[in-house]
Amino acid sequence: MNITIDGPGGSGKSTVAKLIAKKLSFSYLDTGAMYRAIAYYALKKGVSVEDEAKVIALLENLDMKLWEENGIQQVSVNGENVTPYIREHNISMAASTISKIPAVRIKLVELQRKIASITDCIMDGRDCGSFVLPDADYKFYMTASSDVRAERRRKELALKGEEIPFDEIKKDIEARDKQDMTRKFAPLVIPEKAVVIDTSDMTIEQVVDLICQYVCR
Ligand code: DC
Repeated sequence: MNITIDGPGGSGKSTVAKLIAKKLSFSYLDTGAMYRAIAYYALKKGVSVEDEAKVIALLENLDMKLWEENGIQQVSVNGENVTPYIREHNISMAASTISKIPAVRIKLVELQRKIASITDCIMDGRDCGSFVLPDADYKFYMTASSDVRAERRRKELALKGEEIPFDEIKKDIEARDKQDMTRKFAPLVIPEKAVVIDTSDMTIEQVVDLICQYVCR
């Protein structure tokens, strides 16, 4: 069985997806982490995330591995565990920009479909229900106002010691929404037959309960 949750950054997808995965004993796949890992790796190698030709060259010898450690998804690129670095603020926009390159998406989608084919999995991202797994058993689309999402992100980064002003985060979140929603290949859309949940005024528990009404039978 496969469940997809799509939506813009800060909508609460990953927190909710992890809790549902635990409840159902499913594996959880954070597809955003995969785009973040490639963006981080490119920047580390001195390759601009805008430079399609160089990014494609980088993909030729790129080996990505995903596994779980103490309930936390880990991701490595060519043997380096990049998990500790990919949540930094500057990686968010870089991941969005590199994700516009079709060759990047094709490589990652192949891996995502493979994982979904061998396990019961809940996957979150931008195109999981529309492109990666259009026939998923259950599809959700989570959203929230950009003010709420920016404030959630600000708190999350502050907890990790990255103090970034609210206005800057809000501006970046809106720019990233626009880039993710308007790219040509597999943009962020509400997937066909997805249940739309606006989490602006909901607690995490309320969202988990709502999703459970559909999937926890
Ligand atoms: O969910 P996130 O914030 O970790 O995602 C970072 C970026 O990766 C997001 O802005 C766009 C890209 N992404 C994507 O294009 N498709 C996905 N399925 C997941 C993420």
